[in-house]
Amino acid sequence: MQRFLNKIICGDCIEVLSEVKDPFAELIFADPPFNIGYKYDKYHDKVEKNNYIGWTRDWMAACKKVLKPSGSFYIAIGDDYAANVKVIADELGLVMRNWIIWHYTFGQQTKKKFARSHTHIFYFVNDKKNYTFNDNAVRVSSARQLVYNDRRANPAGKLPDDVWIEFPRVCGTFKERAGWHGCQMPENLLKRIIAASSNEGDCVLDPFSGSGTTAAAAIGLGRNYAGIEISEEYVRNANERLAKLKSQKSQGLDINSIKPQERKNLLFDFKGSV
Ligand SMILES: C[S@@+](CC[C@H](N)C(=O)[O-])C[C@H]1O[C@@H](n2cnc3c(N)ncnc32)[C@H](O)[C@@H]1O
Repeated sequence: MQRFLNKIICGDCIEVLSEVKDPFAELIFADPPFNIGYKYDKYHDKVEKNNYIGWTRDWMAACKKVLKPSGSFYIAIGDDYAANVKVIADELGLVMRNWIIWHYTFGQQTKKKFARSHTHIFYFVNDKKNYTFNDNAVRVSSARQLVYNDRRANPAGKLPDDVWIEFPRVCGTFKERAGWHGCQMPENLLKRIIAASSNEGDCVLDPFSGSGTTAAAAIGLGRNYAGIEISEEYVRNANERLAKLKSQKSQGLDINSIKPQERKNLLFDFKGSV
């Protein structure tokens, strides 16, 4: 466990996780390559269909082994293999809480079919009676509050729907974009997941760490992280990204380091964004 804590380890997640004896992760977020021929620097993202499905089963099983009994497991996946992920999760005994659709803007344009503008995000738990879900950490303003001025509205807001429309893809012009990894996920999307399904001090594992977004969001919310990534270059760059973030946080340039009273005025924006 200590080997992983607050580190991005370079290696194959199946091999690395197979060396671990005890479950250590309260939350796992996995965003694997989708087998669509995407260009990564090391991984080849176009393999035979059955090999990809077999590999998916192997890494999901390796993750399940290190997930704590009360842990949650989120998986982002494209259309082509979403159904396979659900079937494998059933076989592994994971319990589905939500099949989330992340609808994004700034997707790729097409000529002969409708443009794809969503990714599936599965939300599973190990135990349907014992898991973390911090509803108050992720509530958003409701239409009753904002549009209808309805007195019956819950002043704390409502839980977000399972279609997430508020997180655009991190495209070229965004300040957030690290610039060296084409699949960087929006940090605020990860913050919603981490805020809902873990507590401060918990360990959040990302077996396909990429640009380090999960770790960045975990740092922002006071969680521990563990990342695994097969490319040495991505590991080096992600560590630089995280070092910068930690230094900003220590200088008080992060929302979570603002005192709760001072944060009150920012609450609407902050909540709206996670
Ligand atoms: C879709 S990207 C993840 C992007 C990440 N969510 C982010 O926000 O930057 C998938 C990553 O998995 C890595 N990868 C592929 N096979 C791997 C393996 N067996 N073990 C660990 N990482 C792997 C790739 O190099 C790639 O960076």
